[in-house]
Formats: sequence, structure tokens, C-alpha cells
Amino acid sequence: MPVVSVQDVARYDGQEVTLRGWLYNLRESGKLLFPIFRDGTGTIQGVVSQKDQPAAFEALRGLTQESSIIVSGKIHADPRAPGGFEIQIRAVEVVRRVPDETPYPIQLKEHGVDFLLDQRHLWIRTPRQAAILRIRAEAIRAAREYMDSQGYILTDAPIFTPAACEGTTTLFEVQYFDDEKAYLTQSGQLYVEATAMALGKVYTFGPTFRAEKSKTRRHLTEFWMLEPEAAYAHLEDIMVLAEGLVSHVVQSVLKSRARELETVGRDCSKLASVIPPFPRITYDEAVRILQEQGKSVKWGDDFGGDEETVLSSTYDRPVMVHRYPTAIKAFYMQPDAERPELALGFDVLAPEGYGEIIGGGERIADYDLLVKRLREHNLPEKAFSWYLDLRRYGGVPHAGFGLGLERTVAWICGTEHIREVIPFPRMIYRVYP
Ligand code: 4AD
Ligand code: MG
Repeated sequence: MPVVSVQDVARYDGQEVTLRGWLYNLRESGKLLFPIFRDGTGTIQGVVSQKDQPAAFEALRGLTQESSIIVSGKIHADPRAPGGFEIQIRAVEVVRRVPDETPYPIQLKEHGVDFLLDQRHLWIRTPRQAAILRIRAEAIRAAREYMDSQGYILTDAPIFTPAACEGTTTLFEVQYFDDEKAYLTQSGQLYVEATAMALGKVYTFGPTFRAEKSKTRRHLTEFWMLEPEAAYAHLEDIMVLAEGLVSHVVQSVLKSRARELETVGRDCSKLASVIPPFPRITYDEAVRILQEQGKSVKWGDDFGGDEETVLSSTYDRPVMVHRYPTAIKAFYMQPDAERPELALGFDVLAPEGYGEIIGGGERIADYDLLVKRLREHNLPEKAFSWYLDLRRYGGVPHAGFGLGLERTVAWICGTEHIREVIPFPRMIYRVYP
């Protein structure tokens, strides 16, 4: 008898199969039992009657939620069954019964989110959470596929670093052996700038860390970032790459994870339009739009979540805002030659209030200007000595960006908070489990 996954049962209509998984739910109705199994790829309802299959019936009767079981039976197309198929059970093997004294803590009712986060190691078993993690995996696969297809070479950046990349206020400090301090990386950017000078077009994809005191639905202290960097690239080049990457990820999820998007209740029509070109507006225009909408921003302010939501709300796909004031951007941003008070940087703002999913731009290529900026930002020149070497030894214009994976996946899934789209979220008040 073939051992099959729940996601593949449609191919076995009318056939006897074996499913291996867990008891997700059990409805008892007199002489009939209706168990729901899950195996990680989906859920399927089973049916077993006391009269026809007494042994299987007894094995399942009173079985506790999340007991592990192997069942065999006939797959049967039934339009009334959730998912369109059910399994008519003939045999049951209970692998491990959950003891009655320690019932599974997550019941099929509404629980508070703090409780669920404490049970995150179990919460990920529920169909919605499992679907989100499958979508995340597809987003990662598609993102790497796109970068590889564009000739970018994966060069991993270190996690222990000697200096800040994105401001000194969100650094996690670690004692690095006896008398050295190191920091968990905030971004792999500085290192991919080095590998870009070595290999041309590169990217890094890994966890990054920010000691963010923010408790917003968009902030984690540990999140994943995909960061491309290209030698001889300018702002416009990298914006084209960004829109191509985002659309490829969205379209791949739509194509390969339609079932999961349905499980999470996503309105997919809102994602179908995510194809290049994305609208582009300057920071100047963005300020004007916000003022027209009655927001109290003035030129020179950075945008918060509210402003981003207003800016993105008029478009059916992400909007790219470019040329922000130099003063509110990171030390490495190349100034616009025509208006040096502007940085050649850009953000990609996702629709539906999901905010900034990408930040990036063109980097300073000039040695002297970079030294000046390090000093203005009070950054330790010694720790950046290697980074200055990249300008000393054949500096060239180059550009890149960082795509925040969790914000991107949260938008694709339509989840309220980004904590749901990473297997084990790390936030200001949470490092457990
Ligand atoms: O805009 P950020 O800070 O840019 C950088 O780190 C650049 N060094 C990247 C580069 O040019 N290579 O962060 C990039 C993206 C943001 O747009 C956002 O999507 C995500 O990383 N991000 C966060 N995601 C979750 N939680 C946080 N605390 C985040 N901070 C940034
Ligand atoms: Mg940013």
C-alpha cells in the first residue's frame, strides 16, 4: 500500500493508501468516528464505522489530540469533505498516545496570542501556521532562484562583526573571548560590498539582528535579509533588480502555494498585480502627497509606519520612494551629484499597510567622502579600515539593497504581525521558546 502525503491524495482517488501523521481532531457521532489527520502537508477527514471496522474504531475512540498515528484506508472524493477528499479508514496504528493527564495545550478554539507564542513549538503544527511556513520557504526558494538567474553569486556575510552598519543604537553586543567586543550583524551590506569588488554581482542571505526597542507589528530583533550588491551599478539599476525580485517572489508563491494562501485566507487578487514596473516617486513628491493628505510631515522628516501606509495606499503594487535627505540616511549613502542634500537611496513600500520591505541604494565610492561621513557619524575609523580599503584599492560606483524577508512574507500572507512568519520569533520581550 503506498505511503502518501495528504497534499497528494487527489492522485489516489479510489485507492488504498497509508497516511502517517497526527490526530488533529476527533468528532464522535454514535457508531461513527470522524477523525481529522494532519501530516504537515495538509489535513484530511477520515471516517470509520464501529460495525465495519471494529478494531480501527476502538483504536481511535477517545484518542487524544496530537497522538501520532498511522492509518490506512481508501481515498474517496467527497465534495462535502473539507479539501474534497476523505479517507475510509480500515486500519489504525497508534504510534504514541498523548497521555490523558497531559492533554495537548492548544485546543481548537481561540487562544490569546501570548499563550500561543509561549507554545510556538506546538503552535506551528496548526494548519494556518504550517501554511505560512510553507509560503516562507517558497519565498526563500524563489528569491534565491531569481538572484541566481540574474547572475548574482551567493557570498555569505559573517554574523559576528566588529562595527555597526545601520546606526549604533540597535547593536547587540557580545563578549568575544577575553577582551574583545563584537556585535551581531545588523546587515551584511559592508561585507557584500567587499565580495562585489571580488566577484562583481553578489548577494548574502541570512539572519540579521537589531536591538529594536520597537513593539510594532513590523519589528523583530532577529530577522532574515537578502542583500544583493553589484559593482558598477547605480541607483536605477538596483531599483530594477528590486522590482524584479519582489515580483518574482510574489508570482512564485501565487503559483506554487495557492492552497496555503487559501488556508491563510489571503485575497490573492491583491497580489496578482504585483508585476514590474513599480511606480517610482521621489522623497520630495512623497512629502507633497503626505501634506496633501493632511499629514503633518515636513521636508527632512523620516517616514514612519503611518506615512508609509498613506503613500502605498494609492497603488496596487509596491511603490518605490527614492532620493531621501542625506541627513536621515545611513553614513554610506552616495549623495546625488545634482542635489548633494539628497542621498541616492530608495525604499520599497509594500501595499496594504505593510510598509518598507526593501531599503538600499548607491554607496559612496570616494575615499575622502567616506572618511568624512564616518567622522560625522562618530563611527570608529579603525574598525572600518578594511571597508575603506574597498575605496583605496579601485573603488567604483556600486549599489545594493536589503529585502526584509519577514515583512515581505507577512505582506504576501496578509498576517497582522510579522512574528507569525518566522518559525521562532525574537522580539523585545521574547526569546522563548
Ligand atoms: O532599511 P534597512 O535598515 O537597510 C539595511 O540594513 C541596508 N544595509 C541593506 C542594504 O542596503 N544591503 O533594512 C533593510 C530591510 C528593511 O527594508 C526591512 O524590510 C527589514 O530589512 N528590516 C526589518 N525587518 C524586521 N524587523 C526589523 N527590526 C527590521 N529592520 C529592518
Ligand atoms: Mg530602511
